[in-house]
Formats: sequence, C-alpha cells, structure tokens
Amino acid sequence: MPMNQGFTLWFTGLSGAGKSTLANLAAEELRKRAHRVEILDGDEVRTNLSKGLGFSKEDRDINIRRIGYVCHLLARNGVIAISAAISPYREIRDEVRRNHERFFEVYVRCTIDKLVERDVKGLYKKALAGEIKSFTGVSDPYEEPLKPELVVDSGTETVAQSLAKLLARLEELNYIGNGARR
Ligand code: ADX
Repeated sequence: MPMNQGFTLWFTGLSGAGKSTLANLAAEELRKRAHRVEILDGDEVRTNLSKGLGFSKEDRDINIRRIGYVCHLLARNGVIAISAAISPYREIRDEVRRNHERFFEVYVRCTIDKLVERDVKGLYKKALAGEIKSFTGVSDPYEEPLKPELVVDSGTETVAQSLAKLLARLEELNYIGNGARR
C-alpha cells in the first residue's frame, strides 16, 4: 500500500472528552512523518462551513455530512483528513464511512462524571442547570460506535498514551508506515 495514500481519521466522543487535543497531537506527529494533514474541528467548522447551524438532530446531521464530504475530498487527494466533532449519531457516522475508501474511527471515551468534574468550557454546569437545551450526553443522545478502529479512554489514559495507541493501531492496520523504521 503506498504510504502517501490519504484517509479520514474520524474522532467521535462527548464535548470535552479530548478529541481536539488528540487530533492536534496526532496531526503534529503525522506531519513530522511527512504526511499532509488537515483538521476539521467541530468548534471551528461551526464558525465558517457550518455557520448558522444549531444542535437539533437535523442540524447536527447536516454538519457531520458537510465535514464528511470535505474529508472525503481531501482524503482522495492524498491528505490525512482529521475530523474532531462530537458526531453523536451512529447512522450518519456510518454513512460518512460508507462514502470513504479508507476511514479510521477513534472513539474518545470519557464518563459523564469526569467530564462534569473537569468542565473545561463550563458548558456541563449550564446544561445540567437546564440553561443549555439538548446538550450531548446530558439532555441529548450520544450513540457510541459499535466497531471503531480504536477506543481511547481519556478518563484513565494520558494523552501521550492515547497518541501512542493511535499511532500503533494506524500502523497495524496499514494506514501509515512504521515511523520507527523510517
Ligand atoms: S456535532 O454534534 O454537530 O458533532 P460539534 O462537534 O460540531 O457537534 O460541536 C460541539 C461543540 O459545540 C461542543 O464542544 C460545545 O462547545 C458546543 N455546544 C454548544 N451547544 C451544544 C449542545 N447542545 N450539545 C453539544 N455541544 C454543544
């Protein structure tokens, strides 16, 4: 398999679970290994490509389909396209997967208790108080992936450990070459 082949690296998980952090670290490492990488981050996409969309199921589905579409365009041109959006609905994630030749899904798992305790953006407090409606994991669904290529547990692993697991699994499934042997 040619090493410059693109694919989509799709992170899914609750808000604050660490998708963006891991995505950014992975991007940095993959660039060091001479891959071309682009990140589509949920929070950022919602300020441009998906500006104006809210958090109803319909709007989330549109958001995820748009991200999936752009990822596919990039991936088929040799780029590693990284998505870091909650993408709470399994059906839409699987639809995006079906539109890809090469798709690698990472479930960034973390318990609600830990996320509420950390509450980096202060959103869980507001969601629990009812000030934000339909908040994923609190008052809106999150459907776990059934067969992701990888699960990382940000509640119990350090981000360095999760990154190491991710790189090892990408190598194992031949999405990237073995960095150590370069
Ligand atoms: S997705 O469901 O469409 O995939 P996306 O990843 O783009 O979501 O955006 C999630 C981010 O929007 C969260 O990290 C949080 O900062 C913010 N946000 C605002 N309202 C909500 C909500 N009701 N549910 C989840 N996240 C929300």
